[in-house]
Amino acid sequence: MDVQRVDDSVQRRIRAMLKRVQEAQEEDLYYYNQPITELLGGSKVLVKGREMDMYASYSYLGLIGHPRINEAAKAAIDKYGTGTHGVRSLAGSLDIHTELEETISEFKNAESAVTYSSGYVTNLTVISTLLGRHDYVFSDKLNHASIVDGCLMSGAKFVRYKHNDLDELRKKLSDAPASSSKLLIADSVFSMDGDLIDLPKIVELCREFGAYLMVDEAHSVGVLGEKGTGIEEHFGMQSVIDIKMGTLSKTIPSIGGYVAGKEDLIHYLRHGSRAYIFSAALPPAQAAAANEAFKVILDEPWRVEKLRENASQFINGLQDRGFDTMKTETAIVPVLCKQDELAYGMTRDVQKKDIFVLPVVSPAVPDGLARLRATVTAAHESEGIEHAMNIIEEAGKNLGVI
Ligand SMILES: Cc1ncc(COP(=O)(O)O)c(C=O)c1O
Repeated sequence: MDVQRVDDSVQRRIRAMLKRVQEAQEEDLYYYNQPITELLGGSKVLVKGREMDMYASYSYLGLIGHPRINEAAKAAIDKYGTGTHGVRSLAGSLDIHTELEETISEFKNAESAVTYSSGYVTNLTVISTLLGRHDYVFSDKLNHASIVDGCLMSGAKFVRYKHNDLDELRKKLSDAPASSSKLLIADSVFSMDGDLIDLPKIVELCREFGAYLMVDEAHSVGVLGEKGTGIEEHFGMQSVIDIKMGTLSKTIPSIGGYVAGKEDLIHYLRHGSRAYIFSAALPPAQAAAANEAFKVILDEPWRVEKLRENASQFINGLQDRGFDTMKTETAIVPVLCKQDELAYGMTRDVQKKDIFVLPVVSPAVPDGLARLRATVTAAHESEGIEHAMNIIEEAGKNLGVI
């Protein structure tokens, strides 16, 4: 039976979104969910029958399709099948899950680690398990949406500070009651801008105000530090982060999220976090792939070095061509276009020449800071990077971005 609905806010929201999508499609500016039909080796992919060079991937070390990782996943399917029997505490805990968690805690130089079904879920469940109504959570304004959602879900007093503004953070920390439990959360590498936190200063502030420190390493594992182990290695610090969060879906070519830290913290999360207790474990093939990937990173350090070289070639080359790449120091390279239409136009023109880049526009970034958000990986070759930059330059000149 059809229900007669009033024209309520739900209907209006749906219509507004559909209109936005339709307009973008009509103007040939719709770049959502472009289907990749095949990996062609290196950084090349097949998109709707066209060979394109991928500059939007998070596979920073080029590990997708790595033979050792593929083999580990296939062997896990042969051994365990494709599912986990359900929630881990009830029926679904496999030895590959324990092995993966041991590998992660070793890689992250921590006592222990726990995994969840995605990075998004990890932030949601960990923050909301640790904090409650009377606590305080301090969060950088550019933190990832999953951190924001976890903070809101926790019910704690949610205090946001201007991006990387540690003076403002200090002021806000000092305004909170001394007796309250405090958690400070930041991305290690910011996912839209590619810049880093000042870990030593943040650690100092946490110690001064007795705050726990949680860092999201989605974009620093495989990227920062000589061995690619992340932000602590980058700053030459050891075990200064209480809650080391990361995902298994970027440098690690799998799916899932994790937290590494002290044994008692992880033990508590295993018994207290709802995403562990009420949701199924990682599929065995994905757990095995992730487990092998951490080992490959350590066995093939040339990948981390190559990524670093590629990132500096890309950033310096774009800057030399007159682009503003903001404050990036990593493989995430914003190419500032300012207006949304220019970011869309750049995407259209660059993609027409078979370079796969995507735009980021408001509200994902503030008004006036629309950009191409390009990423470079260890799978790119120097010549290809030069070619991509020439195409971006041509589009930038045609559209008046540079
Ligand atoms: C900083 C950051 N944290 C968490 C996530 C969520 O991770 P996942 O995609 O594995 O759910 C992302 C993904 O884009 C991210 O960029």
